[in-house]
Amino acid sequence: MIRSVISGFGHAFPKRIVTNKELEETIDTNDAWIIQRTGIKQRYVAGEGETTASLGEEAGRKALDRAGITSDDLDFIIVATTTPDNTFPATAVDIQNRLGMTHGAAFDVQAVCSGFIFALTTADTYIKSGMAKNILVIGAETMSRLMDWEDRTTCVLFGDGSGAVVLSAHQGDGTTADRGILTTHLRSDGSHKEKLYVDGGPSSTQTVGHLRMQGRDVFKHAVGMITDVIEDAFEATSMTAEDVDWFIPHQANKRIIDASAKKLNIPPEKVVINVDQTGNTSAGSIPIALSQAAESGRLEKGQMILLEAMGGGFTWGSVFLRW
Ligand code: ACO
Repeated sequence: MIRSVISGFGHAFPKRIVTNKELEETIDTNDAWIIQRTGIKQRYVAGEGETTASLGEEAGRKALDRAGITSDDLDFIIVATTTPDNTFPATAVDIQNRLGMTHGAAFDVQAVCSGFIFALTTADTYIKSGMAKNILVIGAETMSRLMDWEDRTTCVLFGDGSGAVVLSAHQGDGTTADRGILTTHLRSDGSHKEKLYVDGGPSSTQTVGHLRMQGRDVFKHAVGMITDVIEDAFEATSMTAEDVDWFIPHQANKRIIDASAKKLNIPPEKVVINVDQTGNTSAGSIPIALSQAAESGRLEKGQMILLEAMGGGFTWGSVFLRW
């Protein structure tokens, strides 16, 4: 059986850091409120010349370098983003061009904060089917450009950044002892649209719009949805929380992460958290956290890594893999 193994990783941030203290100068908020409700202390905000495509390119190049391959070796580039540089062409095609790649195909996946889980699952399906040997999967966002900076209930929560992985085909035995992605689970339910959405778009208002959220309602649904798709991953692999070496959740809010880990009986020392430094970077959040954890040497070959996300739509999903 062919398995998709993560053979390279990388991440990129804009230069500018905006602290909670800095936000106190422009909106009616305070550092203590933001930290207590979300765990966020700072976020990165893109400046002139920094875009979703430029951040995605930087993370993608690092992932290719670490995998020891070039864009010549790629079959596909898949970019998860909800903040493309242009409505079209896809950001993935822009990045394909920046990487000097004229063969293969590139396309975007839109599942908001769950985008990286959806993109990774799509890439895994291509690799397992034998259609591709190497795929660059990127989560990249400039959420700062979707914010209403006068709305304190949303603008304090999000940030910009990008993470990327190279997925490569490896021969496995078809058992859970294999390295690579062992199981993926995707869900969505459009009836929750009004709880988290952008109030604009080409076909509705001919504007980009701003992110709108009923934070308390999102919170209420998040933990249940996250734990459901993780239970699915455990069932599919006959594993339990005890088998998880590292839990790398979508970094939306530390309280959601803590509550999910607690419900699943995953101890805090196994949870990778960077939301304090980054805020919610939507589709960027999981690959950034994964890349930082790998770069720091925490992830060891053979360990079980559990990824999950939940976001606008609602969309949610999990990926369970052996490093
Ligand atoms: N600074 C100071 N006060 C604020 C701020 C702020 N930035 N924002 C809201 N408040 C005020 C409110 O106006 C309200 O005041 P009031 O009581 O006088 O009316 C008070 O704080 C409490 O507001 P709530 O919305 O009830 O606060 P809550 O404890 O629910 O926290 C939060 C809000 C942090 C948004 C929380 O609901 C949450 O984390 N929800 C999940 C949302 C999320 O993470 N979304 C990310 C996208 S989806 C995903 O990725 C999973």
